[in-house]
Amino acid sequence: MTFGGADSIPAHRYHEGVRRAIELGLIAFGEAVRLPVENPFIHPGSRGGWSWKPTHTRPLCDRAADMLYRLRGRSSLRVLELGPGAGVAAAEIRRIVPQCTLTTIGLTPIDPFQGQGGESESVVRQPMIDLQLIGDLPQMLPVSGGKFDFIYDNYGPIFWILVESSRRGCAARAGSLISDILEVLRGDGVLFIGASDGALLTERMLARHAGPDAMNVFSGPIYARTEIRTCIFARGTCRLLF
Ligand SMILES: C[S@@+](CC[C@H](N)C(=O)[O-])C[C@H]1O[C@@H](n2cnc3c(N)ncnc32)[C@H](O)[C@@H]1O
Repeated sequence: MTFGGADSIPAHRYHEGVRRAIELGLIAFGEAVRLPVENPFIHPGSRGGWSWKPTHTRPLCDRAADMLYRLRGRSSLRVLELGPGAGVAAAEIRRIVPQCTLTTIGLTPIDPFQGQGGESESVVRQPMIDLQLIGDLPQMLPVSGGKFDFIYDNYGPIFWILVESSRRGCAARAGSLISDILEVLRGDGVLFIGASDGALLTERMLARHAGPDAMNVFSGPIYARTEIRTCIFARGTCRLLF
């Protein structure tokens, strides 16, 4: 099931929201380089080499939602969504933990004011995403601004980069990606990956990087009638989440 695809968003509203968000510093574009990974999400030729075209999104996984409910009381909660698509899960994250600072990394920007109604420029609206970093994941991670309590990737760049690296036999690239992601996970944080690759690559990479206080949980399909599995990497006190 997909939501909020390009066909369901009036183009002028989408572009207007993205333009305002750029002016407000809510969207930052990385270097427009050719990605080492082939994927269907890049639409070259638009501004700065990055596309403004929204993609589809699945809703937030129930399991991830449960974990976020448990993190509700945490102060200075920081959440990172990798590959937010059109932002359906991001909106749900904002609803569950409204006080969090929500950052995303993806290849196409989202209108962070979508669904809020109101055309007036004078109305100050709360963006649903505080900072969107648009660019290739490994490039954007170092500028994501510190550590996160919860990192969520559902069929996002971790999946795409790992599968592509595995196809090309680039185990080193896959390994350094996981290391870089774990670098920005707080000592008691959770990395939640939907859509592990089916060849246990993600699971093996996480197992290899797990410290003695870390915990990997692999589960069965997260959506009925699919093979999409979850892979959860938790550290420190987040053992309590399970
Ligand atoms: C299939 S969509 C998934 C959207 C959503 N998470 C969902 O559950 O449907 C893939 C997402 O990953 C992002 N993505 C793919 N490759 C990427 C890369 N190399 N760096 C950053 N983001 C990437 C795309 O921009 C898009 O947001």
